[in-house]
Amino acid sequence: MKNIILAITGASGVCYARRLFDLLQPKVRLHVTASERGAELLKLELDMTLSDFQADNVVVYKNNRMNASIASGSFPIDAMVIVPASMGTIGRIANGISGTLIERAADVMLKERRKLIVVPRETPFNTVHLKNLLALDQAGGIILPACPGFYNRPASMDELVDFVVARILNQLGMEQDLLPPYEP
Ligand SMILES: Cc1cc2nc3c(=O)[nH]c(=O)nc-3n(C[C@H](O)[C@H](O)[C@H](O)COP(=O)(O)O)c2cc1C
Repeated sequence: MKNIILAITGASGVCYARRLFDLLQPKVRLHVTASERGAELLKLELDMTLSDFQADNVVVYKNNRMNASIASGSFPIDAMVIVPASMGTIGRIANGISGTLIERAADVMLKERRKLIVVPRETPFNTVHLKNLLALDQAGGIILPACPGFYNRPASMDELVDFVVARILNQLGMEQDLLPPYEP
């Protein structure tokens, strides 16, 4: 079973994390954590807390638990998804600042050359955001913005969410039937 870290930070769009969790939870071992602001957004947007993610195959971590197994490169994590990813967290990871479990785990993913997927949600971007995103890309991260497409004619918010979640699942190498490959 794959080990995947799901980290929720303080950007709008925690619905993406929740949907991804529901689809991954039966199939992989999930390691779930949230920043303080991520937890606030969970409450604000979904009326959820981090402990609502407790389930089979899931380990939930506080973001200040720096001695957690996932803070070490010796723990066999296959991929990490930061969704939604705040520009604050992205900036800290892009600059090697590892003051929280999320930042440290992301740093480990980069140093071990493992898959790190970050899903920013900010608009417009300023120059600092763009430089940090480029730095993360150059360090091996995958920048997957929360930008749903419209060519599939989404009829609901759920379909817009699924567009982005499907792209994350594709990057994780997980089968998905939310969004078939585009055919003209
Ligand atoms: C209601 C609310 C919505 C926010 N939305 C975003 C957002 O969409 N994108 C973003 O980069 N920051 C957003 N922020 C700002 C971040 O939460 C803030 O920079 C925070 O320090 C990030 O902390 P973290 O990276 O530890 O989660 C939002 C803040 C609040 C209170």
